[in-house]
Amino acid sequence: MPKKESAPRKSAMTGKPAGAMKAPRAMKAAGARKIAVVPKPALDDEDSALDLDLDLDIEEEEAPVRKAAAPRRTAAEPTRKAAAPKAASAKLVQLLNESLGWELRAQAMYAHYAAYVKGLESLSLAEHFEEEVTESLGHAKKVRGIIAALGGEAVSTRDDTEIVHTEDTSVMLEEALKTESAAAAAYQKIVPLVKDHPVFYHAIYHILKDETAAVIEVETLLGR
Ligand SMILES: [Fe+2]
Repeated sequence: MPKKESAPRKSAMTGKPAGAMKAPRAMKAAGARKIAVVPKPALDDEDSALDLDLDLDIEEEEAPVRKAAAPRRTAAEPTRKAAAPKAASAKLVQLLNESLGWELRAQAMYAHYAAYVKGLESLSLAEHFEEEVTESLGHAKKVRGIIAALGGEAVSTRDDTEIVHTEDTSVMLEEALKTESAAAAAYQKIVPLVKDHPVFYHAIYHILKDETAAVIEVETLLGR
């Protein structure tokens, strides 16, 4: 076994040989490779894709902390590497929180309308609204997961756009169309910021696809 310059032979914590522990730079490189080679078939399941994403991103977030303890690093190097992702993440977290606010509002709006659908329409439309509640819950969960993985703080309040009370299903559908259109627009802003992260991109892409499909569905229900 080749001798290393300064690394201790065994870790006091794990007792493993020093060669078994990753140096900070090696860990970062390993993390980068991991993201780059995420196989597409593994992303087919959206939930597991996000789980994978969380694991990957936690490594990325932790990397600078571990690097801070490295003795041979120059002062300029970590500053340059840490600053750019931080700024990008802040903007991304802001946009994700805007989308999360729309999801939380959509949950409340659809649950409200489901309770007020009357007559024959209650047979189909109430169920449709309940499904939208469930879908929004799922979207919100994914968005929160990404925010958490980025080290951001997820909002816990809905977008404050008024939820119009009505018992007229055509008004409900008009409000649904506005909501789905706003949500789709919010996710479209996020796409360019996650294009280099395969797992985040996968999650956002599928949510955007759902929102776009919802717009078309509501337009169809409105007879357009
Ligand atoms: Fe949604």
